[in-house]
Amino acid sequence: HQDERGHALTTSSNTAGEEIDLAIHNFLHWKSDVVPHVGASLAADPDFAFAHVVSGLIMHGARNVHFRGKIEESLAKAKNSANGLTEREQNYVRALEASASGRITEAVSLYETILAKNPVDLFAQRLAQMELFWIGEMDWSEQISRRVSPHWEESVPSYGVHLSCRSFDLEETHNFTEAEALGRKSVEIDPTDVWGTHAVAHVLIMQGRHEEGIAWIDGLKNNWADSNQMQLHLWWHRCLFHLERGEFDEVLDIHDTWVRNRELPLLVSMPDLYIDMQNGASMLLRLELRGVDVGGRWAELEELTLKRLDDHTSPFTSPHFAVILAATGRFAEAERLLTSMTEFASHDRGTFGPRYLMAAIPATQAVIAHRRGEHSKVIELLLPVRHQLWQMGGSHAQRDLFFLVLADSILKEGRSDLIGIVLDDIERAGFSDAASRIGYKSVGAAIH
Ligand SMILES: [Fe+2]
Repeated sequence: HQDERGHALTTSSNTAGEEIDLAIHNFLHWKSDVVPHVGASLAADPDFAFAHVVSGLIMHGARNVHFRGKIEESLAKAKNSANGLTEREQNYVRALEASASGRITEAVSLYETILAKNPVDLFAQRLAQMELFWIGEMDWSEQISRRVSPHWEESVPSYGVHLSCRSFDLEETHNFTEAEALGRKSVEIDPTDVWGTHAVAHVLIMQGRHEEGIAWIDGLKNNWADSNQMQLHLWWHRCLFHLERGEFDEVLDIHDTWVRNRELPLLVSMPDLYIDMQNGASMLLRLELRGVDVGGRWAELEELTLKRLDDHTSPFTSPHFAVILAATGRFAEAERLLTSMTEFASHDRGTFGPRYLMAAIPATQAVIAHRRGEHSKVIELLLPVRHQLWQMGGSHAQRDLFFLVLADSILKEGRSDLIGIVLDDIERAGFSDAASRIGYKSVGAAIH
């Protein structure tokens, strides 16, 4: 069997091949309907090693420690059926093995190895970008999409997805003009391309184009019915635009209707997916930093977080868990989370341990201290690690949360000497006109 871009797959069953194609196509297009097709593929050929790998990688991508057993099971089945695999398939098996052990950069280098011989293997490009994004290595990701881009042309299936991936790499590496052009092109090719939509939304928030941002989301929101959780993250992005305009009621409304609406099928089936937890925690804290009463909205996040205190699958998510626990007064549990993170970081030799140490742990300590009103401690914790926070992963717009916390503590401590440092950091992150942004202008105005 050959996939839609011509890569050979080792299976004796046509159905198994077709179903894994559908699964990967839907995954690449950010559709929610992926796992059932992996299941159908494996039902047709239980010895289809590559389908076991896809299953394991999708669970690994969900960044949830509770999936570890199932990921190991997929890996074991893939290795058991590894006889006669192509070199490309073998590299995927190795990539799953590295990912399952938290050796993320090793997995990425295997995706690069695959791409060296199969430059239009969009699955490898996407997986590499996802892994690198969540460890903050977007320069590396940009290098990968740049290297494969000459091999792409419109006739290659899912050309638009390559463009949307390339667009986001360019945005996070501050090539905003080219990022916007490619993002818009990917959405022209396919209006349901939520990743291209997302890349453009990032450009617009970085450049302070808030009204355009709202219109951009508004014009595309009806295309997302079949999309995965990225649609909820796009609603989070829309909240960012309203927040900058001081339209807090609008933000609360979108929070309740989309971002954390627990009645939406996506949130019913998986209420604690990391991106959704981040969206919720990040937006509620941003609102509270503006003095908005968010009522009982933290409670559902609190309940979900209490089950994840020993989850070290995402150095960007862990500080958000701390935000939630501290917001609901669960300081004992927040300290338990911190202790668990510290123990993990002290022995982990994979990609995550050092990143917890350099970025996630100080950020976690800082958000707890902030909620306790220990503002001089927040400043002491965050100032020295500002230039390392990228190591926790996430986007510039997402990591802005920790700079907003720092700015708030600077305001509360009346440290007018430090505001220039934070404003420089915000501009260095790529935001234009930092001093006019809502979380920073109040600091400047109050101090001067
Ligand atoms: Fe985003």
